[in-house]
Amino acid sequence: MKVICVDSERAMSAEAARLIAAHIRVKPNAVLGLATGSTPIGTYEELIRMHREEGLDFSEVRSVNLDEYVGLEPDHPQSYHYFMKHHLLDHIDIKPDHAHVPDGTARDLDAVCLEYDALIRELGGTDIQLLGIGRNGHIGFNEPGDAFVPETHVAELSDNTIEANQRFFRSADEVPRRAVTMGMGSIMQARHILLIACGESKADAVYGLVAGPVTPKVPASALQLHPHVTVIVDMAAARDLGLPGGLFGEA
Ligand code: GLP
Repeated sequence: MKVICVDSERAMSAEAARLIAAHIRVKPNAVLGLATGSTPIGTYEELIRMHREEGLDFSEVRSVNLDEYVGLEPDHPQSYHYFMKHHLLDHIDIKPDHAHVPDGTARDLDAVCLEYDALIRELGGTDIQLLGIGRNGHIGFNEPGDAFVPETHVAELSDNTIEANQRFFRSADEVPRRAVTMGMGSIMQARHILLIACGESKADAVYGLVAGPVTPKVPASALQLHPHVTVIVDMAAARDLGLPGGLFGEA
């Protein structure tokens, strides 16, 4: 696991975008695994800038998003379909049918989950998977529990996650209780994993990710078993890692 500690959220976003853009330049039809939440917004802004100013070409890129709330229509402002269109997809030249987000409104969610893993396989696997991290160490919506769930599945959101995500809704009551999420295996099949985190509220989770035991109680800790992970953190999120700012560390 390579840990890059930078001095600002802006630097984190620029570094993450640089890495994703490099994948696209090397492989124009790369499969990008994409994430939502507030953390990747700056990365998407930088990718949009690179598209507009540097001609970064998404016309052959395919994308698969990590997760979607159950029950939110794609045009609901808090749905991850809407988030992706608003923050990235509408501003680049990716073909609409090349961009995939799980369907959280289908009647048969089990079929949605099975089909999503099949889709990732059909695309040839993910070249680079972007991840944020929850304060409790969740990735996608793989919440702390007694076992890792390998496949895409319907997850119950933890109280911690509902509380953290209620800032996007009018109240905690409006936060959906369930989500379709890639499983740990669906995430770990990616050839390269890029996790970004900033702010002190993520420091405990980042410590568990990098230096804690591999345990389903901190789902992100499983990334220690992946051969090609880059973690980009600001100094606040790296609080407990003992890395000097600006240096690249191996953990
Ligand atoms: C949600 C998403 C995660 C994301 C997490 C943290 O729960 N499912 O993919 O990493 O929120 O979000 P933020 O970046 O807003 O802290």
